Amino acid sequence: MRKGFFITFEGSEGSGKSTHAKRLCNFLRRKGYAVVLLREPGGTRISEAIRNILLDTKNKKIEVKTEALLYLAARAQLVKEKIIPALREGKVVILDRFQDSTLAYQGYGGGLNLSFLKKLGDFVTEGLAPDLTFLLDINIREGLRRSGTSDRIEKKPLSFHRRVRAGYLALARKNPRRFFIIEAEKDISLIREEIEKNVLALLAK
Ligand code: TMP
Repeated sequence: MRKGFFITFEGSEGSGKSTHAKRLCNFLRRKGYAVVLLREPGGTRISEAIRNILLDTKNKKIEVKTEALLYLAARAQLVKEKIIPALREGKVVILDRFQDSTLAYQGYGGGLNLSFLKKLGDFVTEGLAPDLTFLLDINIREGLRRSGTSDRIEKKPLSFHRRVRAGYLALARKNPRRFFIIEAEKDISLIREEIEKNVLALLAK
């Protein structure tokens, strides 16, 4: 049923994943691949509306359970409306954040039960998992400095961001075949080469 390739970018604030997702998209398009670049939360009209609720600094009082369910709702819409159809058409889907973000932020960061979140995740993604996930790992202070902006989540305490980073690394250890960890503080062109090399190897399979 599925013919395309599904690549996700993950990482804590300021890791540069969105820049690398865009660069990879341009690189693959130049090589002639049909590529769809999407971001989470967002990527559809409904999911972008949910994004606005989630990132609004006025919504400081949002409960972690509310938050998790909203991220999952945005994902359910994106999977059904955009990701599954694109993969069926044989396209390469590049997604800036996916289910690992919910596990890292609301699970490890926010303290929600990980196996329950995974079950909810499978429910909304219909069991869809990425072929390859790049985790851009960065020192928390440096990442927050680089990200500059301050939405509701970036304003959370350092201890939260530390748990998110450690959570991502734990997820990568648990799924070594899918994850590729990149040290996000090194030279940007080295990062780009590493990403391109891994993706070309995947597409050649
Ligand atoms: P962005 O900074 O990559 O645009 O992502 C938006 C924010 O949403 C970021 O702070 C991480 C957060 N987030 C979660 O907390 N859980 C999720 O499931 C997703 C997709 C994002």
